[in-house]
Amino acid sequence: MKTRITELFGIQHPILQGGMHYVGFAEMAAAVSNAGGLGIITGLTQKSPADLANEIARCKDMTDKPFGVNLTFLPVVNQPDYPGMVKAIIEGGVKVVETAGNNPQSVLPYLKDAGIKVIHKCTSVRHSLKAQAIGCDAVSVDGFECGGHPGEDDVPNFILLPRAADELEIPFVASGGMADGRSLVAALSLGADGMNMGTRFIATKEAPVHDNVKQALVAASELDTRLVMRPLRNTERVLTNKAVERLLEKERTLGSAIKFEDIAPEVAGVYPRILQDGEMDAGAWSCGMVAGLIHDIPSCQELIDRIMAEAEAIIRQRLAGMLD
Ligand SMILES: Cc1cc2nc3c(=O)[nH]c(=O)nc-3n(C[C@H](O)[C@H](O)[C@H](O)COP(=O)(O)O)c2cc1C
Repeated sequence: MKTRITELFGIQHPILQGGMHYVGFAEMAAAVSNAGGLGIITGLTQKSPADLANEIARCKDMTDKPFGVNLTFLPVVNQPDYPGMVKAIIEGGVKVVETAGNNPQSVLPYLKDAGIKVIHKCTSVRHSLKAQAIGCDAVSVDGFECGGHPGEDDVPNFILLPRAADELEIPFVASGGMADGRSLVAALSLGADGMNMGTRFIATKEAPVHDNVKQALVAASELDTRLVMRPLRNTERVLTNKAVERLLEKERTLGSAIKFEDIAPEVAGVYPRILQDGEMDAGAWSCGMVAGLIHDIPSCQELIDRIMAEAEAIIRQRLAGMLD
């Protein structure tokens, strides 16, 4: 399949793997890229620019296909060394950067000068237009269904994607709730040039996470996510568990007086305990409603091949058949 996204990134299939904290290691990115999609290393999971440079080098040892690095701009006091990370990305010869969180304007000139394509992930049409205006090459439009941070507008993809298509000139991928060939065809129909998946890629053989995490995704339904940190205007969609229920109880009790410190035990530093050690009740971790569509743990190659075959069958048989 050829779309503006496959052309822009030089990839075989219009399928991206979004940056994921403590999931987007070299193994994950290389597996997706080797399967014809675009794998993405999560920059901030690496503790320093030197570690990121090492992770990029490891990924290059595992694939000769294009892959990207995610740079998430966080609303935190102690800012990570973004200039150092950008340097590691440029010197590592990375071809694509996925930015997310705040406006990526401060790093954009350096990335563009190095010939790197930038796709900014955003949850609204206005932020997508801003990304286009500042010179991003593409956007990843992340609907309310998504795992991670859906923003505060709560617009699901059935509305958000056609709205983005009406306004944008640069290509975009649909993100949030994407799992299979049906998702891809729907995304293309709504105006996207591909799709970005997060949660679905965690339940794959190569995802470098504890097996408990993969089994939890297979067991979960579309009813099992919760929105946390809404009172802090830092909403995150997570898989429910004991820690999440405790966190939500604090939000109910403390109301608008709640501060980050109140919920730090449930959210700060919990990712390695959950994703690497498999302590499934250790805290809140991002997960999309798409968990309800995840029933197995294929390899990335099997998953992407299946998506492409299903998408083609839907277009050539189901949809074309309706016109006969
Ligand atoms: C466990 C997990 C961690 C994530 N961490 C990040 C992150 O660090 N930076 C980022 O931009 N997006 C992050 N995301 C969001 C994904 O890149 C992607 O936008 C989202 O998962 C899409 O929705 P889906 O899960 O329904 O496919 C994360 C998602 C998950 C599930």
